[in-house]
Amino acid sequence: MPGAFPTFVAMATATRTPPSPGGQTTPRTSPRATPPPRPRRGGLLRTLWGSTLGKKAVMAVSGLVMLAYLVAHMLGNLKVFFGPADMNGYAHWLRTIGEPVLHHEWFLWGVRVVLLAAVVLHGVCAWQLSRRDLAARPVAYRHRRHRASYATRTMRWGGIILALFLVWHLLDLTTGTVNPRGQAEHPYENIVTGFGTWYTNVIYCVAMLAVGLHVQHGFWSAAQTLGVTRPGLARLCKGGATVLAVVLTAGFLSVPLGVMTGLVE
Ligand code: HEM
Repeated sequence: MPGAFPTFVAMATATRTPPSPGGQTTPRTSPRATPPPRPRRGGLLRTLWGSTLGKKAVMAVSGLVMLAYLVAHMLGNLKVFFGPADMNGYAHWLRTIGEPVLHHEWFLWGVRVVLLAAVVLHGVCAWQLSRRDLAARPVAYRHRRHRASYATRTMRWGGIILALFLVWHLLDLTTGTVNPRGQAEHPYENIVTGFGTWYTNVIYCVAMLAVGLHVQHGFWSAAQTLGVTRPGLARLCKGGATVLAVVLTAGFLSVPLGVMTGLVE
């Protein structure tokens, strides 16, 4: 996307400083009555964060960070099909990456911090954009029922389901709080015991379908926000979004299905 970023910055900045009628850039009121505002520190970042386009860019980039994690996580989960030694060894290796230069778990904590920042930024921008969307509508329209498009509503509900799932998932397989076994550094046993209960299977299957829908629409939205307009590239991104969504959903779902069918025990 050569030249996409300067264009993007110009567009985002333009949303904050509309020219006055007649193409003038100075206000029409007397300069003595209203002195021009002094430039504030962190101007560009502040302007980007304040603009709708800037928030969409933050959502796009944070979404892509989470997507990269999801692909790696889904591939790592497939270790469960190779038995407890492979899966638990993999979980142990995750905690030792970078040693002896890094201390035990430092790399993992770095990943956790980046992911947490991505989740918070993504959620805050989604919330602020939907508030803006609502506030921008005429008052009479605001009280009618069908406001947002089907895709927008699916994304909002999907996001809420995924946020709730994430809390449950961390309590289940990271802290072990709600897992019937909950043994630290024994993900294989925790997975097999957890997916032995009907409610865990229901929660995970619903959440994995939400992951697929969210990724499919989200990836395509991110590509558009980041400047993909050429028809060939746009078609590639749209197709890529569907392939990613199907592969992620199938890969994640294979774990509970593997336990349910007795392939993993
Ligand atoms: C069937 C699907 C899934 C399975 C079987 C699964 C399995 C696991 C396991 C075993 C862990 C603990 C790893 C360890 O302690 O070494 C874990 C952690 C985690 N999972 Fe999943 N996961 C699934 C889906 C997801 C999804 C869809 C997301 C995101 C929406 C996700 C996000 C995370 C996060 C953020 C962690 C914490 C990583 C950490 O702090 O170390 N997982 N998962």
